[in-house]
Amino acid sequence: MHSLDIRRGVTADASALAEFAARTFADTFAAHNSPEDMQAHLASSYGVRQQTSELADPGIVTLLAHRDGRLVAYAQVRCGQPPACVTQEQPVELHRFYVDRAAHGAGVAGRLMLAVHGAARELGGRHLWLGVWERNPRAIAFYAKSGFVHAGSHDFFVGADRQTDHVLVAPVQRPTGGEA
Ligand SMILES: CC(C)(COP(=O)(O)OP(=O)(O)OC[C@H]1O[C@@H](n2cnc3c(N)ncnc32)[C@H](O)[C@@H]1OP(=O)(O)O)[C@@H](O)C(=O)NCCC(=O)NCCS
Repeated sequence: MHSLDIRRGVTADASALAEFAARTFADTFAAHNSPEDMQAHLASSYGVRQQTSELADPGIVTLLAHRDGRLVAYAQVRCGQPPACVTQEQPVELHRFYVDRAAHGAGVAGRLMLAVHGAARELGGRHLWLGVWERNPRAIAFYAKSGFVHAGSHDFFVGADRQTDHVLVAPVQRPTGGEA
């Protein structure tokens, strides 16, 4: 029986998170993007300095999931301006949500999503919104079964490549599972 521990990340986690975040981004998207665009995105979004500043930012909650002591997933929830298609009140963004490939389909994502709702409540959110690449069917299926619905679309750049993200929204759940 595996034990899963989900906790808030702290700046001492920056190095492990930077490595994990870059690896899971590459695992997910390298096959569909040019090496140049991947390199540009990895350089601008990941690294010990970048993750240190994210972990220290009071407007961002970073959640780390460890299974048997190994980092297997992370998520980031943050305050910020949503795209115009998000009209629901008090929105907070699910900015990143990544499970290690070896742990896909094992229930880790569902457990982490519950913790994401807790983080959204902490940040004063009543709705979660996110952008997911239109060519990421597994994530789209997971978000649909997690209660997210389509709100619109927006551009997302990987390096110089302009891509289309679906924008999805879900109500933040109360601890009992109802809406906040
Ligand atoms: C997205 C992610 C967090 C979901 O976690 P997971 O453990 O894979 O999720 P689950 O297995 O519970 O659910 C995925 C669903 O997609 C289905 N699925 C798998 N491959 C699929 C595909 N190619 N097309 C459509 N659906 C697919 C699965 O069958 C499952 O549905 P089911 O439970 O009804 O069978 C995880 O896959 C992941 O980290 N992916 C890489 C990073 C990523 O894409 N993050 C999101 C960025 S926005």
